[in-house]
Amino acid sequence: MQIFEDILSTQKRLLELRSKGHTIGFVPTMGALHKGHISLVERAKKENSITVASIFVNPTQFNDKGDYTKYPRTLESDLKMLNGAGCDIVFTPSEKEIYPNPDTRTFDFGEMGNVMEGKHRPGHFNGVAIVVSKLLDIIKPDKLYLGQKDFQQVAIIKELIKQLHLPIAVISCPTLREQNGLAMSSRNTRLIGTQREKAGIIYETLCGIKEKAASVNAEDLISWGKKNIEGVIGFNVEYIDIVCANTLKTVNAMSDCDEVVVCAAVKTGEVRLIDNLQIK
Ligand code: PAF
Repeated sequence: MQIFEDILSTQKRLLELRSKGHTIGFVPTMGALHKGHISLVERAKKENSITVASIFVNPTQFNDKGDYTKYPRTLESDLKMLNGAGCDIVFTPSEKEIYPNPDTRTFDFGEMGNVMEGKHRPGHFNGVAIVVSKLLDIIKPDKLYLGQKDFQQVAIIKELIKQLHLPIAVISCPTLREQNGLAMSSRNTRLIGTQREKAGIIYETLCGIKEKAASVNAEDLISWGKKNIEGVIGFNVEYIDIVCANTLKTVNAMSDCDEVVVCAAVKTGEVRLIDNLQIK
């Protein structure tokens, strides 16, 4: 596995590989890797001759500075995991390498960027778009691998790629879960005491909503879900939204669109967890 910290040598190596006919699969990450990330690397390896991963904790996508400072950083074990998974190239740039000057671009994703995470984390998706556009420009992959846990992020990045006319296929991969159903996330390592065990309530509730979806209206499903999660002491719902999978528009009745997804953001202590489940 080759590790590059600077843009120029990464580009030079990838140019060489591309000129030999290799296809490139790319897994962008912020490190603190878990099995979910590794499943993206494994998928990329199956579908491309070269797999590239990046590790960069992107400051511009954190609306909460405390969250940025406390974001887990585990470079050594991340590199071990990537090596074990057979990743070919890792790009681990410094903040200065990515942002030699502040990037002041503003992206517009319409309503899609203003709901759910967009509403509760102002500026978050603009920061994601800034860094992903830079990473895609550097790596120039054929295929980009993203986890479905960040459902809205996948929709936003697909839209970004469309807006920038990039010839990149987005492969959205299933969420991996812990034994209690908790979606795997780098933030899970920040859960303390019994929080991690209790956090299973989030997925349990999404499954409950799915079960009831055919016979209960969206508003009642949301208020049931909120009550169910907040029945666990220390868990507070930031939002539960039931949306159309393609547009992220709020759904009132299940018949409003063909594919419906329930998305939730929940806070426990200082940790904010998100999850989602397709319910139709
Ligand atoms: O999902 C993430 O880890 C990040 O948002 C991403 C896509 C690597 C951009 O920083």
